[in-house]
Amino acid sequence: MLKTSVAKKIWMGISGLFLISFLVIHLSINLLLIYPGKEAFENAVHFMATNPFIRIMEPVLFLGFIFHILSGIWLEWTNRQKRPVGYNQYDRGAVTTWAAANMIWTGLFVLVFLVVHLINYWYQFKIVGVEDHYELVISLFDSPVYTLFYVLAFIALGIHLSHGFQSAFQSVGAPREKFHKCLRTLGYIFSFIVAIGFSIIAIYFYLK
Ligand code: HEM
Repeated sequence: MLKTSVAKKIWMGISGLFLISFLVIHLSINLLLIYPGKEAFENAVHFMATNPFIRIMEPVLFLGFIFHILSGIWLEWTNRQKRPVGYNQYDRGAVTTWAAANMIWTGLFVLVFLVVHLINYWYQFKIVGVEDHYELVISLFDSPVYTLFYVLAFIALGIHLSHGFQSAFQSVGAPREKFHKCLRTLGYIFSFIVAIGFSIIAIYFYLK
């Protein structure tokens, strides 16, 4: 049981790092929506849609998400089985951070966001055949409910990453004593940039 858990944790780390690199690319491209604007964003989307390497990586990305989600649920489930009595909130807080203790909940919220997000964008572009990416993206932020839901999901993603970033590196073998502080700080900076970066896009177009 322990051996399988450790193996799953390593795979979670690898898939987590892969998803982190996706977020860096996705955020960089999305920021083009604000500056320089429509043309640069459409060019980047066109490049992503036609580049053969990216085309190959698209199904890998979907599998990465599915693998990461299923492993996360499985890990949470087996951890709960191993401690059937359960910790109360106080005990949990004493040994870990709030973000670490609630990875499953922030992760599930991001999953709900992801399903809505893929229906709104991916489905519209790839299946329905909508061509004006820029117009569709910004028109969705006309709605205050939609914008608020997005911003809350980005906050949940930031909290998830504030623990997930360092955890992913440690799961793939970064020496704990040597790099713990450094990875923790980097993780906080990265999760802050991701949460704020995506939120700025949503709020900017809502206010515009
Ligand atoms: C303001 C924030 C965001 C905007 C404006 C945005 C916009 C978009 C757009 C326009 C697409 C379709 C691209 C295309 O295939 O033509 C897309 C796809 C996608 N987005 Fe986002 N996104 C945002 C945040 C996020 C976040 C935080 C995540 C992950 C947690 C995410 C995950 C994805 C995924 C997995 C796809 C499908 C990628 C693919 O086509 O291969 N997005 N997004």
